[in-house]
Amino acid sequence: MNKFYITTSIPYLNGRPHIGHALEFVQADVLARYNRLLGEDVWFLSGTDEHGIKISRTAQANGKSEKEFTDELAEEFRLVLKKLNISNNDFIRTSDKERHWPGVNKIWLELVAKDDLYKKSYQGLYCAGCEAFLKKSDLVDGRCKIHNMKGLDVVEEENWFFRLSKYKKEIKKKIESDEFRIVPETRKNEIINLINDAEDVSFSRPVESLKWGIPVPNDPSQTIYVWADALTNYISALGYASGDTRFNKFWPADVHLVGKDILRFHALIWPAILLSAGLKLPESIYVHGFINVDGQKMSKTIGNIIDPFSVIEKYSADVVRYFLLREIPSGEDGDFSYKKLEDRYNGDLANGLGNLVQRTVTLIENNLAGELIYKPAMIEEEMKNKIDQLFKEYIKNLDSFLLHESLGKTWELIGVANKYVDDHKPWISVKENPEKFLVTMNNVVFILYNVAWMLTPFMPETADKIFKTLGADRDAKTLENYKFLVQKTPSSLNASKGQGAGLFPRLEK
Ligand code: MSP
Repeated sequence: MNKFYITTSIPYLNGRPHIGHALEFVQADVLARYNRLLGEDVWFLSGTDEHGIKISRTAQANGKSEKEFTDELAEEFRLVLKKLNISNNDFIRTSDKERHWPGVNKIWLELVAKDDLYKKSYQGLYCAGCEAFLKKSDLVDGRCKIHNMKGLDVVEEENWFFRLSKYKKEIKKKIESDEFRIVPETRKNEIINLINDAEDVSFSRPVESLKWGIPVPNDPSQTIYVWADALTNYISALGYASGDTRFNKFWPADVHLVGKDILRFHALIWPAILLSAGLKLPESIYVHGFINVDGQKMSKTIGNIIDPFSVIEKYSADVVRYFLLREIPSGEDGDFSYKKLEDRYNGDLANGLGNLVQRTVTLIENNLAGELIYKPAMIEEEMKNKIDQLFKEYIKNLDSFLLHESLGKTWELIGVANKYVDDHKPWISVKENPEKFLVTMNNVVFILYNVAWMLTPFMPETADKIFKTLGADRDAKTLENYKFLVQKTPSSLNASKGQGAGLFPRLEK
């Protein structure tokens, strides 16, 4: 059995979860669930990034201690994962002194042992939004390109520095050769273009400037830089410090899923830390884009932040998952709007999938007393070939982190089924040619069975409901190999009475 280790980035606890976080969680969840279907031993980690100046200031502004503030928000993130039906195996908080801090201490000491940390006086402009010192190229009119609302901190202090520049050649080589894969290609090129200019980075702040963090081992006058602290979550959670078997089994990560704004931390600083500590680099970094809202950047000032809880409450987890995964092209930016969501709902879910399930159930209910005994011999060769072709494309897209395309293939198959019903008119054949009616219904039910498997990583609850309707075995082990799904026609399917109807009722205006 192969292993598959996937992580999300860990969101800052300076605010509640928003729909952008939800996008990252659901994309990671599809990959985790897909790999479980392939029979991999999957470990899926998420968590929260809790230290640094930004969080400390926001807690203060809310009249709370950092601990109180982050404890409350961490619960919100745990809850949103649950509400979205995310199948993470673990959740790490960087404020966790037992699970996380020992890993950070250990890696710091490894860097010291390599002589990769040195102290120097430094003058610079610090952006609390980025949690990073900025270079001239990061500035527009003296403000941070990304967080231009607030002023920058002018800093003059003594910090520990990390010799990032020592590793940049090696990292570049590994990225170019795809030994360390950055997906999509455009992001790989972006990082290759800026790697030559990479300089050593400040890896600590004096306690007077930053107290809310992990103290530098053997130098309590300094606090570890929040990114050095946060990136280490990917190994601390596996028990890196305690020599845990989970670390030995699952490291290196197969996929770190991150947004485009934090790629350089993951594709430069993190691999440099790992090389310095003598650890393997992750296999790959998958980079997703940003969600805008009605064409505008999501921001507190504009007041257009979309709260995932209320969208899930209104439409259900699977509808939100479907929208995010289908509408936002993996790896690119996309747009959220209630209108787009409802159009997708009515078009794809109510009229497409919901209609297919509904009419299948109704035909069986009305004409076969609610029970169709499945006859594998009735499945047409042409139908098997069509499903096979679409399923192969579905897999190819999943393997290339084109999740929206995989869903597109699933909906092509749903379209094939709906057209098949329209063309074969079972409501007529049931009276004129009962044998033909049974052939039609068997083929439709067979497609539905395949559709349910294709939906499993994306919309697990919906897939389950369809399996129930079909009386099908949903144990993935019975598939033997998910990549050859259609060749394994189930021995028993039994579309049964009253199930699955009204899966996605049309929304009232
Ligand atoms: N704490 C760091 C990550 C540390 S990982 C060791 C951080 N946190 S964040 O809360 O700002 O962002 C968390 C994730 O959400 C990032 O991958 C980021 O790109 C993503 N998104 C933030 N806003 C987003 C959108 N509007 N759309 C999609 N994803 C967005 O960065």
